[in-house]
Amino acid sequence: MIVASEIQQAASAAADLRAAGTLALVPTMGNLHEGHLTLVRAARKNARSVAVSIFVNPLQFNNPKDLETYPRTLDADLAKLEGEGVDLVFTPTAEIMYPEGMENHTSVFVPGLSDMLEGALRPGHFRGVTTVVSKLFNIFRPDCAMFGLKDFQQVAVLKKMVRDMAIGVKIIEVPIVRDQSGLALSSRNSLLSEEERRRACLISREMNAIREEILSGNRDFAAVVSAARARIDGNEGFRTDAIDIVDALTLKPVDEHTLRAAVLMAVYLGKVRLIDSVAFDLAPERC
Ligand code: PAF
Repeated sequence: MIVASEIQQAASAAADLRAAGTLALVPTMGNLHEGHLTLVRAARKNARSVAVSIFVNPLQFNNPKDLETYPRTLDADLAKLEGEGVDLVFTPTAEIMYPEGMENHTSVFVPGLSDMLEGALRPGHFRGVTTVVSKLFNIFRPDCAMFGLKDFQQVAVLKKMVRDMAIGVKIIEVPIVRDQSGLALSSRNSLLSEEERRRACLISREMNAIREEILSGNRDFAAVVSAARARIDGNEGFRTDAIDIVDALTLKPVDEHTLRAAVLMAVYLGKVRLIDSVAFDLAPERC
């Protein structure tokens, strides 16, 4: 496994891999768990060679505390990737990625989708994501790249980015990996106390309850959301940041044309902000 921390080194190793066949990229911020390893295995199924980037991208953090506390476990991450037979890992620093500082770096912005929902709550977040991912695409020039559906809006934003900019990278969506309790795997879970971790499954339970309510025919979305908020916030330590029921394709509020819906959740448990999502087909309304 080649580990490169310089852009040129990563680009030239990626070019060698591409010369031998297809290349898949798995962009990550490290602190790798089974969810990331599922992305790596999906990458292996889709391409001859697999590259992974590990970079806690400061440009996508709107909250300095969140950036500071984001878990960093590089040695353990590299051991896991070696175990998965990954070919190339890129581990740049912020100075390498943004040599003239973040504020002087060219940015890539996807209008519309970046400003709504999670983007409205975390200003600048998606600009940071699309800027770093487009730079990674330029360094690696992969055939495809894997992204987990837990970050549902991120996937939609990145798909629009490659479409709009005619970037020849296929975005492959990978289903959410959950623990036995139903909690979506996330690097931020490691910031939860043991007790919080046991209780965190409330989020996916409530999310599934919303889905069931809608599937059983309730179309009073505002009421469904406010009941779920009340149930969640009634539990000590939980604070709902957002619950949205959207059209899974446009991310706009569900309307009579929606065929596939998604529930997007962001909930604080203590100081940790956890997100989750579920998409499902809506039965057409009978007239
Ligand atoms: O999903 C993530 O971990 C990050 O947003 C990504 C795609 C690696 C960009 O920094």
